Amino acid sequence: MKRRHAVLFGATGLIGSLVLRRLLALNVYESITLIGRRHPEITDLRVEAITCSLDELAAVRLPHAIDDVFCCLGTTLKRAGSREAFYRVDHDFCVAAAAFAKNYAAEHFLMVSSVNADLKGISFYSQVKGQTEADVLAEGVSRVTLMQPSLLEGERDEIRFGEEIGQTLMSVIKPFVSWTQAQWLSIPAASVADAMVASALGVDAQSVASGQTVRRLRYKEIVELAKSIRGEA
Ligand SMILES: NC(=O)c1ccc[n+]([C@@H]2O[C@H](COP(=O)([O-])OP(=O)(O)OC[C@H]3O[C@@H](n4cnc5c(N)ncnc54)[C@H](OP(=O)(O)O)[C@@H]3O)[C@@H](O)[C@H]2O)c1
Repeated sequence: MKRRHAVLFGATGLIGSLVLRRLLALNVYESITLIGRRHPEITDLRVEAITCSLDELAAVRLPHAIDDVFCCLGTTLKRAGSREAFYRVDHDFCVAAAAFAKNYAAEHFLMVSSVNADLKGISFYSQVKGQTEADVLAEGVSRVTLMQPSLLEGERDEIRFGEEIGQTLMSVIKPFVSWTQAQWLSIPAASVADAMVASALGVDAQSVASGQTVRRLRYKEIVELAKSIRGEA
């Protein structure tokens, strides 16, 4: 198998750091380029880090082609400080990452979106995620995978009260309803990361429209794909 080149946006985040860990554990990627304003401390010859503001992404040049682009960017309204600042990260930077992938003729653009992504959704968050998905697809990368998890399970350095309350409630309910594999169930961030990488390495596609292959992965598909890359039954 030809060894691949990956670009990863959001390597310092919960899912992004787990994607990086999974990419490094495989002997499939010849290079993994991290692009962002800061980077995890890592010494591996396959990893190169480009430090820049994502406003300047169009000026970034790589010396080689790209196969897969993983976009794990995101913020919260509280961290961003305003709706505009939130939109800049969760929409503008993600769309810029898709444009970057298209520029480099990347085969596959994979992005963490949300189960709530909906252009006509009632919350600002849903609408932004829906708009981001639409604008990412419009960039025209030939293969796009949109991860659509519900609440993420995982350890963070920062405290996010809303998410912690959601996780506590979910930990009570989930043992009784996880068999349903409902799309709203919380999911370990590691499963999302593993499924993202499994999807990059897989060849199965869900739907093909006007030459573009688009796949949206929710709870059930994420759990199954994550198992496949871990070698679980
Ligand atoms: N939390 C949930 O329960 C949940 C549920 C469903 C979907 N999602 C979505 O999943 C995605 C990933 O979530 P996550 O929890 O893994 O994210 P996270 O831990 O908050 O990490 C976000 C990443 O985005 C980067 N980023 C944020 N603002 C930036 C800026 N201004 N410039 C450059 N980089 C910036 C961060 O880099 P720095 O380290 O430099 O800040 C970090 O690497 C997000 O889009 C989120 O909306 C989350």
